[in-house]
Amino acid sequence: MLILGKEVAAKTLEKITENTIEFEKKYSRKPTLAVIIVGDDPASQTYVKNKINGCKQVGFNSLSYEYENGTPEDEIVAKIKELADDRNVDGILVQLPLPKGYNEQRILANIPDSKDVDGFNASNIGCLCLNRPRTVSCTPLGVMHMLESTGIDLAGKNAVVLGRSNTVGKPMAMLLLNANCTVTVCHSKTVNMSQFTKNADILVVAIGKPKFVTADMVKDGAIVIDVGINRVDGKLCGDVDFENVEKKASYISPVPGGVGPMTISMLLYNTLMSAIARENEQ
Ligand code: GUN
Repeated sequence: MLILGKEVAAKTLEKITENTIEFEKKYSRKPTLAVIIVGDDPASQTYVKNKINGCKQVGFNSLSYEYENGTPEDEIVAKIKELADDRNVDGILVQLPLPKGYNEQRILANIPDSKDVDGFNASNIGCLCLNRPRTVSCTPLGVMHMLESTGIDLAGKNAVVLGRSNTVGKPMAMLLLNANCTVTVCHSKTVNMSQFTKNADILVVAIGKPKFVTADMVKDGAIVIDVGINRVDGKLCGDVDFENVEKKASYISPVPGGVGPMTISMLLYNTLMSAIARENEQ
């Protein structure tokens, strides 16, 4: 069966839109997301455009700041500090990856916890590790909603995550662990990866290689979530060989229409939560 992130996300967007109307009535302003992009990577530009469109769709304000590759790091940090001090800005997002040469961690560290709608800051990641989640990274959070949409009890399941990035793999593993799965993280240095993947009841793939996961690597009846977005011969495809793995999986998410729309809906959810929390603090 397909897990259509697009449909799960649509329900979340409806709820966010309703709550945004209430928010505006109560506080006489709209939730506001500021997005910073550096350089001209076409994939990043598309993601940012989709995020801005998402804001429009649910009734948020959005601000976007585009910097050429080569812009001094201090100029970007100064903008983040300005946005951090702006009472009307609820979320600050720096689109990753930044071009080579930028110190991502140094730049991101300037986003205050209360506006870190990506959940990438050390304290938000730390809270997730302590199983006291605050703002959780959008893509892994979206994957959890997709898994929950199957209605399957996650406790005790063997979950295998392919990829160990700070943005997806690591927080994904923590969320699955917090949901009482037995979690294995595989990565580029893992020897004989299929010995792990063949044992997975839940397989989350975020490795960034087109059609990397083939049918022989997958257990019959597994739930397979494909986080990859690759462009091959002008066509989008995931990290999973969808046509063949679909025959073995009990549930599988397609690319496009799977995880991508979930990431955006979770970003908007995090922004609304940040806006409400900030109003309640004032
Ligand atoms: N690049 C790929 N995914 C993401 C994300 O969720 N947030 C940011 N900021 N950059 C990304």
